[in-house]
This record gives sequence, C-alpha cells and structure tokens, in this order.
Amino acid sequence: MPPAAPAPEPAEAVLEVANLKTRFATPDGEVRAVNDVSFTVARGETVGVVGESGSGKSQVFMSVMGLLASNGQATGRVRFQGQDILGMGASKLNRIRGSRMSMIFQDPMTSLNPFLTVARQMTEVLIQHKGLGERDAVKRSVEMLDLVRIPEAGRRITMYPHEFSGGMRQRVMIAMALLCQPDLLIADEPTTALDVTVQAQILELMQTLKQEFSTSIVLITHDLGVIAGLADRVMVMYGGSVVEEGGVRDIFYDPQHPYSAGLLQSMPRLAAGRAERLVSIPGQPPNLQRLPPGCPFRPRCPHAFDPCETDDPALRPIGPGRAKACHLDALP
Ligand SMILES: Nc1ncnc2c1ncn2[C@@H]1O[C@H](COP(=O)(O)OP(=O)(O)O)[C@@H](O)[C@H]1O
Ligand SMILES: [Mg+2]
Repeated sequence: MPPAAPAPEPAEAVLEVANLKTRFATPDGEVRAVNDVSFTVARGETVGVVGESGSGKSQVFMSVMGLLASNGQATGRVRFQGQDILGMGASKLNRIRGSRMSMIFQDPMTSLNPFLTVARQMTEVLIQHKGLGERDAVKRSVEMLDLVRIPEAGRRITMYPHEFSGGMRQRVMIAMALLCQPDLLIADEPTTALDVTVQAQILELMQTLKQEFSTSIVLITHDLGVIAGLADRVMVMYGGSVVEEGGVRDIFYDPQHPYSAGLLQSMPRLAAGRAERLVSIPGQPPNLQRLPPGCPFRPRCPHAFDPCETDDPALRPIGPGRAKACHLDALP
C-alpha cells in the first residue's frame, strides 16, 4: 500500500466527493444527471450505490474517474487520497487510474482489448505502472488470474478475451483491475449481465478480495440483493441525488426514505422460500432534463404532503451515520 497523502482525514477517507454536479449538453437541452452529491468512502470500506436505471449512479463515478462523455461537465470537488482530481489533465489522471483507482463495468469488453491476448494486456499494465520486467510481469499476472480462480491460468493467459466465457471474462477484468492493488475499486453493475450462479461466484470472489486486501470498494447496482452481503454502507440514489444513506442493516431493516422502502418491497425475497408478490414502485423515474420543482420523488410517493410540492428536501442527518432527503420525520 503506498503511503497516504499528508494530513490524513480522521476516518482515513480514500475518496471524498463534495457538491458534485454533472450536466450533459444535448440538442434538447441540458441533462442534469448528478445533482449536488456529497459522500466519502473510507479505507477498506465497501459502499453500495443503488437506484433504478437512470438515477445517475454511473455518472457520479464516471465524473470521479474523469471518464465523462465529451458533452458532459462535472463541477464540485473530488479528492482521492487527499488530492483534488476533478478536472485533472488526462496524463496526470492516467497515473492514478488503473493503478491506485480502477473501475470495472457490466461489459468486460469495455475494458479488455479484443485484439490483444490477456497476457499482453495484463503485463503492459504492470510494466507501465509498476516498472516490472517482462518475466516478473507475466508471473504476477498468472498469480492474479489464479487469485480470481481462473483454472489453468498459466495456459489461459495466452488466450484472447473472446476465448473466455462471460463469467471468466468478468474474472479476467477483475484481475486486471486489481493488478496494481488499487486503493479504490469501483464496480459498476459487475454481475448484471451474468446468470444467477455465475453472479453468486463473482460476488463471493469480491467478498474474498475485500477481506484479503484493504481495498475500498464501490459497488454500483440497480439490484439491492447484490449489495446485501457485501456492502458496509449504502447510498440510495434517485433522480441524480442521494436520497438516503446509512449502514447496510439500516437500509435493509429500517429504510427511512419512501423510495428506499419501495425498492425493498420490489426486491424478491428468496429467504421466504417461495415467490412472494412483488410490489413495484408505480410511475416512472423523473426526466432529468425537466426535473419538477419540489421533491423529485413526489409524483410517485405514497406519503407526499404539501411541502413536497415546492421544496426539494436536502439530505439531512437522521441518526448516527444516517441521512435522508425527505420532509417526513418518520415513515408512517
Ligand atoms: N453522454 C450523455 N449525454 C446525455 N445524457 C447522458 C449522457 N450520459 C448519461 N446521460 C444521462 O444521465 C442520466 C444518468 O445516467 P446514469 O448515471 O448512466 O444512470 P444509472 O447508472 O443510474 O443507470 C441518464 O438520464 C442518462 O440518460
Ligand atoms: Mg449505470
């Protein structure tokens, strides 16, 4: 682990995001994808980020990584290990990306090059970021593939990405992301495209990695079930904002925002041993081009009352390590 930057924060924050706003310019007007989002990720901590599709989850972390599409613009503050990185030039950022901070995606082919063998792609990272020689780089890469449980790693490392199955390719991508032992791993829907069995294997793998390294993990998903066993803390996003934040147990057993409660009710309960009727949240997520005044969740909220029409509730503390953006004091 590289030494932390000077003046460490009390909780040893690896990532600090403050007042992040991300906008996209489009021919039909501005898309407000991320609206004043603030949070920290502590060292060794796993933070789950949940919300329906289009709630701004990915764009928060694309902004953090400096990977926004060219029509996007992020403002606010992003500090990684004490260093301001928002708006940092690509060459400086590249020294951090892929070594101290890496990101994996739903589709492994967004990070893997189809024309190069896995060996070539993995060793290049180590040669470039860690200054290893060819032989050591190969040795270390094979070790990493072993670690993510790719059978016969020594032979398979010479294969091309398309020669692997979907689950194995996902493992290769995770191995690549972990090669330099990053302090922060951002996993964006890493299991969404996989069938249930492979999904469980990948989540188990992430659990092991979490225990073996002190890597901080951000796990982005639209599926609450995915984070249940892995996250320490959860951020629930709606309409480009964080609407509730708390420990994983708080969110699962005592949600305090009507949207979090709705998400939970729409989650299949496997423990019940039988299919329960799922209650999905009626209505549609807001159009981020025309966010209505007041609370973005109001049109779908079963508990909306007068203030929700006009005042957009700010995220406020509601207990130790807990916050919500809702005018209600408690859920009825
Ligand atoms: N390049 C872009 N141009 C315009 N809008 C975009 C662009 N990229 C993302 N968006 C919009 O930003 C919003 C948030 O997207 P995203 O963060 O990907 O959602 P999530 O990951 O929660 O599904 C969506 O409304 C999406 O359409
Ligand atoms: Mg996404």
